[in-house]
Amino acid sequence: MSDAQEKIPVQIRPVVAADETGVKELVTAAFDQDTEAGLVHRLRHCGAFVLELVATTTHGRILGHVGFSRVTPADVGPGQSLAITCMAPVSVWPEFQRQGVGSALIEAGISRLRDMGEDLILVLGPPAYYPRFGFDAGLARKVKAPYAGNAFMALALSEDGTRNLPVEVGFATPFQEFE
Ligand SMILES: CC(C)(COP(=O)(O)OP(=O)(O)OC[C@H]1O[C@@H](n2cnc3c(N)ncnc32)[C@H](O)[C@@H]1OP(=O)(O)O)[C@@H](O)C(=O)NCCC(=O)NCCS
Repeated sequence: MSDAQEKIPVQIRPVVAADETGVKELVTAAFDQDTEAGLVHRLRHCGAFVLELVATTTHGRILGHVGFSRVTPADVGPGQSLAITCMAPVSVWPEFQRQGVGSALIEAGISRLRDMGEDLILVLGPPAYYPRFGFDAGLARKVKAPYAGNAFMALALSEDGTRNLPVEVGFATPFQEFE
């Protein structure tokens, strides 16, 4: 890494109910406001999360969190049976950023979603960060969504995820409230 920080050894595991307060504090600290923590809370409690992971130290302290929520394809066109998720938000405690925690979480999430048979992951975020995991703004141009531009990226996990496009999608309701 450019600032020469060592990677911290982390363990990645699914979120459990006892993590609720710790994740809320972490997401609030990462974004320096509670808007994204509110989004996580609503996504979790409306059942939109397909996968929610935390990264912890070997002693169990939570350092990072990522959530993947269900995205619904419109009932038309080649993409209507694709299994699609949205990766958001991704959070790492400020003092533990740039030490590989976010990358470990994102790579673990991608791997688990591929194993679960998911076809496509969407993300909205820094174009300087997400392409290193394979996210591509060009692929996302084939996804008709309320988002566009270079910050809107897609990663195909299956052949269908590349082939059965274009697709029109709707995000979980908490994202509409979030805009
Ligand atoms: C974005 C975030 C999750 C990355 O986690 P992390 O553990 O710091 O990231 P890693 O250590 O795995 O990767 C570090 C690399 O990501 C880059 N990076 C981190 N945040 C970035 C950003 N907002 N824009 C561009 N690049 C970024 C760093 O420059 C570094 O690059 P390098 O490897 O070339 O030096 C974390 O910084 C964070 O929680 N930020 C605040 C919340 C946020 O903006 N989340 C993303 C939008 S949902």
